[in-house]
This record gives sequence, C-alpha cells and structure tokens, in this order.
Amino acid sequence: MIGRPSEAEEAVPAAQLPVSVRAPAKCILFGEHAVVHGQPELLLAIDLYTLLVAQGSTRLSLNGEEDPGRTNPYLRRALESGSPPPPLALTTTSRIPRGAGLGSSAAFVAALETARAALEGGLSRPALAQRAFDLERGAQGVGSPGDTSAVVAGGLLTVNAGAGPELWAVTDGTQRWVVRRVPDPAWSWLVAYSGVPRDTARTVRAVSSRLAAPDGPRLLERFRAVAEAGVDALRSENRSEVGRLLGQNQELLREVGASHPRLEALLEAVAPSCEGAKLTGAGAGGSIVALPLPGRELETIRRVTRAGGSAYAVRVAPRGVHLVDRPASMVGIPSEGPPPGA
Ligand code: PMV
Repeated sequence: MIGRPSEAEEAVPAAQLPVSVRAPAKCILFGEHAVVHGQPELLLAIDLYTLLVAQGSTRLSLNGEEDPGRTNPYLRRALESGSPPPPLALTTTSRIPRGAGLGSSAAFVAALETARAALEGGLSRPALAQRAFDLERGAQGVGSPGDTSAVVAGGLLTVNAGAGPELWAVTDGTQRWVVRRVPDPAWSWLVAYSGVPRDTARTVRAVSSRLAAPDGPRLLERFRAVAEAGVDALRSENRSEVGRLLGQNQELLREVGASHPRLEALLEAVAPSCEGAKLTGAGAGGSIVALPLPGRELETIRRVTRAGGSAYAVRVAPRGVHLVDRPASMVGIPSEGPPPGA
C-alpha cells in the first residue's frame, strides 16, 4: 500500500538558513557490543533532546569556538572528509548527558547531517541514516549503526532481528545491518548515569578482543538468543520476561568485561523496585537502563539518587531527528557546556 509516509519516515525537506534541528537520545535494551559483530540489537530513541541551530557565517564555529575541529572529533572528521560542512555558526544545547552512553554523539552527528542535508535540498531518511553512521564511525573508528539509526528513525527499533519490512539497511562496506521497527508498548523506562564517562572506542576494542577468544562464537550465540527473546517479550508486552532478560543480558556484558563497579552499585540499588535492569551502551562507565515496576518509578529515581547516580525517567521519542522552528531562546545564548561528543 502506498500512502503518505508517517512523520517518523519523512525525508528531510529542503530549508534555508537559519536551520534548527532537534535530535533525540537513544538507549539500548538488548545486544550492545554483539551488534558490532552482526548480532541482533533492540534499542529506542528516548525523549531527551539535543537542539542544534545553524546560522550563516563566514567560517565554521561551534558554540563560539572558532576552530571546532580541534575540540570536536565529529566536526574534525567532517572537515577532513571529501565534503566538509559549509561555513556555519553552529549553536547546540542538550539535555543528553555527555559520555553517558545515551547517544549524545549520535544526536550531534544526526543533527549536523540533517542541517547539512536540508541546506543541500533535502534527503531521504535511509540516506541520512547512512550519512550519520559514516560520520560517527569515521570519527570513532569502530561501532555499529544502531545508535545513529535510532536517532534518525525515532521509536523502537531492531537491528538484525525479526521479520517484516526493512526500514533501511546501513553498511560499512563490509557488513550490512538491517533496521526494522517494533511497536512501542508505551512503557516508562528509567536511565541513570553513573557519573563515570565511558569510552566507546576503547571498550568496543576490549570487548571485541574478548570475543575473538575461542569461546567467542559461543558467547555471541548467547547474546543473540537473549536479544531475540527480548524482542519477542517486548512485542508480547510481557514486562516480567523483559525484566528477566535484561538481567541475563547484563550477566553476559559482565562476562565480556563491559560492566563497572559504579554500574553494579546502581543495578543493585534499583533491583527491588524494577522488573529488571542492565547497563546500556558501551559500558565500563556510562549508564544503566531499568524497567520500573508499575507505580514504582519515583521510588526507583530515589534509589538511583541515593546510590549517587543521575536518574532520568524517559519514554520512547516517536520522532527521529527533525527540523524545528527556530527556538528564539537559543539564539545568542551560550550553550551549557563543551560541545557534545567532545
Ligand atoms: O557509544 P555507546 O556507549 O552508546 O555504545 C554503543 C553501543 C556499542 O554496541 C557498544 C557500539 C556500537 O556502535 O554499536
């Protein structure tokens, strides 16, 4: 059936300066690390946002920094690429904690590529997903297109799992990852930052060498089984089974060395009021994701706070990165801190 694409599937339209873009954060429920090796992943865009405003300028700047390639690895990569961004004064503001494994870099690259695409006359969403991945991967050197796809698509997504129509496929020239939508059961999730910044590239490399050991294929097979069961449990809205599987995924992540004592302390703190919880993102620092028992969301936030973490009650962000009317309050107001992803 051919119909009007939903907002989430719509192409980036052409636009003129100034351009404002809003990009959601993301949270991985099952399959981080294993997805780098082609295994399934389940993730969601969450309703914490980065806003980026691009205004005309004679040179590229970010939040007033006139040589942003020096401090921001994604702009550095973009400047070194065959098609550097045009001279723009970029301003960002973000509610996504940085270095927390919640997609601040994916939101930044997706917002940047969206602004650029709009100024170049528009772009389809599959092509935007590929461009955002190319930029993030180019800067990080490792990784899968899960994060950037979630930020571009919005909603709840699988990578390399399930049947049904493909939303798009993203490639690095060697591997191909297939992205599909999953219906959102509209649950409240809780993410909590440990305060320990994580280093995705370093952790992905460490876990990859662990997975290159003789028992690596068996471990990857266990990651696959948990993620596929997680997708089924979420589709059938079986909260307790999703919770149990979050715990199983955490055991595997622990086994490959992706946990951290601060993450374990947060997981222990939230256990009594949650169906289940696990680290989310690269780990070795960063954040956890928890599914609170119905009605016990506030208690879970208190538990996180008492354990020294920063809690965010989140829901699925239904729309991926998109153009917005210029929020007047952002223009001329300095951003809250250093550039995202720095
Ligand atoms: O950068 P983070 O912390 O959001 O982690 C990304 C998830 C990994 O699977 C570890 C890497 C990847 O690119 O998929």
